[in-house]
Amino acid sequence: MATVSDRSDAIVLFGATGDLARRKIYPALHGLEEHGLLDGPVVGVARSDWSDEFADRVRASLRERNRGGDDVEQRLLERLRYVSGDYRDDSTFGRIRDALGDAARPLHYLAIPPAAFATVIRGLGAHGCADRARVVVEKPFGRDVESARELNRILRGVFAEPAIFRIDHYLGKEAVQNLLYFRFANSFLEPIWNRNYVHAVEITMAETFGVDGRGAFYDDVGAVRDVVQNHLLQTVANLAMEPPATQSAEAMRDERAKVFRAIRPLGAGSIVRGQYTGYRDEDGVAADSTVETFAAMRLHIDSWRWEGVPFFIRAGKCMPVTAMEVLVELCAPPQDVFGESMRPGSNYVRFRLGPDQVAIAIGARSKKAGAEFAGSPVELYVSNQQPEQMDAYERLIGDAMKGDSSLFARQDGVEAAWRIVEPALDGASPVHPYEPGSWGPAEADSIIAGTGEWNSPAAADPRNT
Ligand code: BG6
Repeated sequence: MATVSDRSDAIVLFGATGDLARRKIYPALHGLEEHGLLDGPVVGVARSDWSDEFADRVRASLRERNRGGDDVEQRLLERLRYVSGDYRDDSTFGRIRDALGDAARPLHYLAIPPAAFATVIRGLGAHGCADRARVVVEKPFGRDVESARELNRILRGVFAEPAIFRIDHYLGKEAVQNLLYFRFANSFLEPIWNRNYVHAVEITMAETFGVDGRGAFYDDVGAVRDVVQNHLLQTVANLAMEPPATQSAEAMRDERAKVFRAIRPLGAGSIVRGQYTGYRDEDGVAADSTVETFAAMRLHIDSWRWEGVPFFIRAGKCMPVTAMEVLVELCAPPQDVFGESMRPGSNYVRFRLGPDQVAIAIGARSKKAGAEFAGSPVELYVSNQQPEQMDAYERLIGDAMKGDSSLFARQDGVEAAWRIVEPALDGASPVHPYEPGSWGPAEADSIIAGTGEWNSPAAADPRNT
C-alpha cells in the first residue's frame, strides 16, 4: 500500500488532451508555477499522439485564459513530457515511469471519464507507479452509493486514504469558503442562523450555456450527478454545518458529513427535472434522452438547528443568467407594527458566489422619508470582493501536492450525498421541457409553493455595475 508524507515532486495528468485539462488544469499549473509551487516534471498522458504538439496545446490553453506569454510559461513548458498510450496497455505505465525520471512522489491526476478510473488506478498499482504517490480523482465519484463504494474499494486497494484526493472544485472557491468564514468569524449571525429565524434557504446555480461540446459526458450524467450531488450539496454543507471541533481537516470533514447524513433522501414530489428544448440535438446526446439539464428540489435537514427550514436548490443549463447565488430568507417580524404586511424574506442575507461578481448583502426595510411610517427595501452591502484571486483548481492541486485534504470530499460524505439524491436518479420522475433562456419548466414552481416564490439572481448586481 502506497503511503506518502512529503510534497509531490511530479504531476502525471491522465486525460491530457481533454476538455478539463484545457479549460482548468493547464491554467492552474501556470498559476502554481508562478507561485513556485511546482516541482519536477509534468507528464501528460492520453491516447492521441500529441508528442510534438503538447507544448502548443498547453500554450493555447493558457492563451484562452489570458495567461502565459511570460517566463512562467517558459518554465512550465520545460517541465512538460508527453506519453501517448492506451490505459489498458502495460507499456503505457512503463513509459510513464520512464518519463518521471528521478521523481519519486508523483501526484496522479485522473482528468478522465469515470468509466476509465478503475483501469488507470489498477494500472498504477500493478506497475509500481503508486508507491509514495498521491491520486486526485475528479467527480462524479461513482454514479450512486454502490458504485461510489466500488470505486473506493478500487482506490483503497492501491492507495492509502491520506493519498486519495476527491476533488470538488467548489470547495476550493474563495466565495464558497467565505460562507464558512463569514458565518464563524462573526458573532452577529449565530443567534439567527437557525430554525427560529430562518424561513428558507435558496441556492441557485444558473448557466446561460448548454452542454458546451460535452454532450456525451453530460448525457451519461445529468444535472443531479453533475453539480447537485457534489457542488451544491457541499454549498449546503457550508451553510448548514456546525463549527468544527478543531481546525483539523478531519474535523471540518466530519461536520460536512454530518449535514449530509441529516438530509432526507429526495422523496417523490421533492424534485422537478427539466430538459431544455434542443438538448436532444446536441452532439453526443441520445435522440430520446430523458437526462435532466435542470433540477429544482426541496431538501429537509433533520437536525436541531434546521428542523422544518426548507433548503431549495435550482440548477440549470440554458438559463437567463450565469450566476451562483445563495439567499437566506429570514422570518417576518412577529408583529405588523406599521400597518404594512411584512412577508418572510423582507430580511435576508444574500451571497453572490460568482462567477463574475462576488458579494454579500443584507436585505432590510428602511423608513421612506416623509410623514408616514412606511418603508421600502434596501440592501446593505457588507462585502464586495473581487472574483477569485486564486483559481480553485490552482489552490486544490497545490493542497493535494502537499497532502492537505481539508478541501477535498471524504468517502463517507460522498456516500451520504449519493444517498440523498439516489431516489431521484435515472428517470425516477418525468423530465419537463423548458425553453432555453427561461428559468426552467413551470412545474418547478410546485417545489417552492407554500413557502414563497423563486428568487432569481439578477444578471448584473446593481451595486457592481
Ligand atoms: C463542473 C460541471 O463540475 O462545474 C459543469 O461539470 C459546470 O457542468 C461547472 O458548468 C461549473 O463550474 P464553475 O466553476 O464554472 O462554476
